[in-house]
Amino acid sequence: MKWDILSKGVRIDMKKVRIEKNTVQETLIVPLYGRKMCSEKFPELYTDSFAKKLCDNLDYDFSELEKKNNSFLYEFGSLEAAMRQLDMIWEIKEYLKKYPKAVLVNLGCGLDETGKACDNGLCRIVNVDFPDVIEVRKELIIEQDREQNIACDLKDYSWMDRIDGTNGVIFFAAGVFHYFKRDEVKTLVLELAKRYKGGCLVFDSVGKLGLKLMMSKTLKNMGISDVEGLFYINNPIRELNWSKKVKVTSKGYMLGYYDLKSPNIGFSHRFLAMIGDRMMKMAIHRMDFE
Ligand SMILES: C[S@@+](CC[C@H](N)C(=O)[O-])C[C@H]1O[C@@H](n2cnc3c(N)ncnc32)[C@H](O)[C@@H]1O
Repeated sequence: MKWDILSKGVRIDMKKVRIEKNTVQETLIVPLYGRKMCSEKFPELYTDSFAKKLCDNLDYDFSELEKKNNSFLYEFGSLEAAMRQLDMIWEIKEYLKKYPKAVLVNLGCGLDETGKACDNGLCRIVNVDFPDVIEVRKELIIEQDREQNIACDLKDYSWMDRIDGTNGVIFFAAGVFHYFKRDEVKTLVLELAKRYKGGCLVFDSVGKLGLKLMMSKTLKNMGISDVEGLFYINNPIRELNWSKKVKVTSKGYMLGYYDLKSPNIGFSHRFLAMIGDRMMKMAIHRMDFE
């Protein structure tokens, strides 16, 4: 389950790029730093030298995160960031077996390079995020052939006009829908299903308890005190039953794809992973548009 894109395309030896605190955009730091940390702590499981290079090139105060580097919970958080990406890669590679020339669309991409990790030389890669995030991305990462960045709010569907799904299209959203309202996710899904038959969407979710416990600090920083109305899923079969034309399959986020049996990953990590999947309802959902 290892991958490494050898930091291809990261601009180095340049002035640092600033990320503002207490913004939705700042949320990209946590998974990025988590992937860097996971590469350092669990190299047998996961490698992403790209994340380290990107962190080094950001003008952002990492000291608060660095202080917690050795705490068990933060270590687990780094595993979470890595497993989510590995799960997405698994689903994308499955889809590419059927549609090798598909477009891989990274919704709320932040500074994530999952698209490149799945590149088969034929597919195309599109990264969508808010304009200021795309600006940071362009300063740090060189756009490759068959790659395009789109600066847009995902809730403004004009970005879809720029995605041609004729050869297949898989959308993936990692750590993005927690910031959406339930109806906003539903409307987005139904629009994608209408436009892209044969397409697919992969995203992660947590249950209500998970959202409250795991994201309270982030949500508080963003001025959100009540999770009611936000997107959380306790029972995917019941709650994601939005259309007969959308086939839904769901798996555990931490243990649904891989068993986490790797050197340095102890029983306590795997136990917490089980709690995450079973009690916090951490899950990865795949929706196929028929
Ligand atoms: C937690 S970060 C995840 C980043 C990336 N997917 C990853 O795994 O590293 C959430 C990302 O979603 C983006 N985002 C949130 N709401 C968005 C919206 N309405 N339109 C576009 N991007 C959005 C944020 O700017 C941020 O980059």
